[in-house]
Amino acid sequence: LHYSIAVIPGDGIGPEVMDEGLKVLAALEEAHGGIRFTRDVMDWNCQYYLTHGRMMPENGLHTLKDYDLILLGAVGAPEVPDHVSVWELILPIRRAFQQYVNLRPVKLLKGLESPLRYKGHADLDFVVVRENTEGEYSNMGGRMHQGTPYEMAVQNNVFTRYGTERILKYAYALAEKRPKKSVTAATKSNGINHSMPFWDEIVKEISREHPDIQTNLYHIDALAAYFITRPETFDVVVASNLFGDILTDLGAAIVGGLGLAPSANINPERKYPSMFEPIHGSAPDIAGKGIANPIAQVWSLSMMMDHLDLPDASAVIMNAIEQVLQEGKVLTPDLGGKATTKEVGDELVRHIYLA
Ligand code: NAI
Ligand code: MG
Repeated sequence: LHYSIAVIPGDGIGPEVMDEGLKVLAALEEAHGGIRFTRDVMDWNCQYYLTHGRMMPENGLHTLKDYDLILLGAVGAPEVPDHVSVWELILPIRRAFQQYVNLRPVKLLKGLESPLRYKGHADLDFVVVRENTEGEYSNMGGRMHQGTPYEMAVQNNVFTRYGTERILKYAYALAEKRPKKSVTAATKSNGINHSMPFWDEIVKEISREHPDIQTNLYHIDALAAYFITRPETFDVVVASNLFGDILTDLGAAIVGGLGLAPSANINPERKYPSMFEPIHGSAPDIAGKGIANPIAQVWSLSMMMDHLDLPDASAVIMNAIEQVLQEGKVLTPDLGGKATTKEVGDELVRHIYLA
């Protein structure tokens, strides 16, 4: 088995956690023969932008198209506006390659305690399916009347039937494969009175095709509260682009923080490369200190193995992560430890060889 990966370390802690991810990948190849990955590293980041005036070369997407997989660290630097770094690199990749599913597990790993100290927290294991190509992140709108008292900004939400149906179908198909048989859809149809009632109608249509799945449709504000008060009840949570983005930082917080939370940008048809990354950003507040938690990046590699239908390789990575967490000796400061990013990476590698 041979796969090619385009590696984009990015900015800030991105390259720091990527180094450890690539170490884990190399260990996996060596210790568990049979899988080979070639990697090409792209220097597309904010430094590239400051030099070239763009986040990636003009033919960047064309270059990426020929890879099987994309591995991303994080982008964003104080010298470049965030909407530039995100809109010129991450969002074009997600859209051009129809990575319309953003999968984000919310799972309390062995060895961790939820900050909620919730009595049912052993069951804290669900997945958020975030729509990843349209919705609130539409790029449609504009600004008017600048410099006058009537200055205004308008941003349109775009929900197409095609885009909404395909994300909901994916969510229900995923729920069919999971034990709890439940889909929770985020809405806000009381306040957002065109796009969200449309979303709700399609939820009801798709739910009728899955009579064995229990459907809950909750307003996003209430749902955010339920993430805190009864997270153990969820199985598959499906949400629009913005709602899913917000819910998953919250989801990360209830299972140990952003340093642990991975994400997969999936093109389910496998026509284009899918992209794997941590949820977190470039964390300028801790960049350069060598203390970022590399586990989110490494977990994203496990999601990559799942995408490749390599469940054994995926399990080897997850077991290594859970063993390091359970031993509790080599942890970064966000988990109360004193270890560096590299020390955690080395410890993960050691467990990969032990497996
Ligand atoms: P952030 O995720 O970078 O940081 C939020 C907080 O979490 C910070 O206190 C940070 O120190 C902590 N944190 C994040 N990852 C961590 C890790 N691995 N280990 C330990 N602590 C960690 O979000 P923020 O501060 O809103 O954004 C910073 C920059 O990152 C901005 O330029 C933003 O646009 C960009 N960004 C990029 C993303 C991407 O590349 N996919 C996603 C989110 C933000
Ligand atoms: Mg986010």
